[in-house]
Amino acid sequence: MKAEILDGKNLALKIKEELKREVQDLKNQGINPCLAVVLVGENKSSQKYVSFKEKTCKELDIKSLVFRLPENTEETSLIKLIDELNENSQVNGILIQLPLPKHLNQNKVLERISPFKDVDGFTPFCLGRLLIDSPLFIPCTPKGVIRILDEYKINLEGKQAVVIGRSIIVGKPLSLLLLKRNATVTMCHSKTMNLQDITKKADILCVAIGREKFITSNMIKKGAVVIDIGINVTASGKVVGDVNFDDVKEKASYITPVPGGVGPMTIAMLMENTIHAAKLQQRVAI
Ligand code: GUN
Repeated sequence: MKAEILDGKNLALKIKEELKREVQDLKNQGINPCLAVVLVGENKSSQKYVSFKEKTCKELDIKSLVFRLPENTEETSLIKLIDELNENSQVNGILIQLPLPKHLNQNKVLERISPFKDVDGFTPFCLGRLLIDSPLFIPCTPKGVIRILDEYKINLEGKQAVVIGRSIIVGKPLSLLLLKRNATVTMCHSKTMNLQDITKKADILCVAIGREKFITSNMIKKGAVVIDIGINVTASGKVVGDVNFDDVKEKASYITPVPGGVGPMTIAMLMENTIHAAKLQQRVAI
């Protein structure tokens, strides 16, 4: 068997074209979507992601405000900035790039964002709404994963879905979304024993652990759908996923490549959430 590629790059392009038209429609109604992005410190990956978000906003004619703050920013200054952005009626969405420097309390910072501007969906309010199946904003990466599965008409009902990784950014919300689609969900993490026994039973295997080419063909079931959410930079500067693509593609039925899989979908979903925020705040029918 040779797996079909789940082409997130092309799907993201298609979605962005639709969103571009939606932004113009909103602008014709006097609504100008605006995303504020806050980056604290010098993390190289974060700098790249933030530049990419800025560039995509520009492509879609969404206004972006990027706040690049020094590594030693005090929590009170960051909270003050969030309060100002919450109050600013021109700003529809607020995103705090993660991870934050160690001296900042991530939960305390994220909690401060108005849930109605929380385009990442990481506030307790938004995560709670997701938990009760009444989402306000769905975190971008998990939302992108489900959108790819939908595009390729991959049925989740009754299937064994295994998620490796339990972060707020990916693993936990993705598990809830898969559960909502009636998959039987198993969550694995760094302390899971006999991981391979579990991954081998997965019809859908989603991997978000940040370990280069960790998943090999002997860990998967023949015909599994494999979703690689890892972005790792090798010693030679190449971007690779958490899945050994060349090996696993021979045994899986579908697989996302890295790059060109989930990554571009995350940004597209961020743009979608920003437009959703603009509509929510203007009370346009959604
Ligand atoms: N860092 C890695 N992924 C993400 C994301 O989706 N949102 C934010 N804010 N930070 C991240």
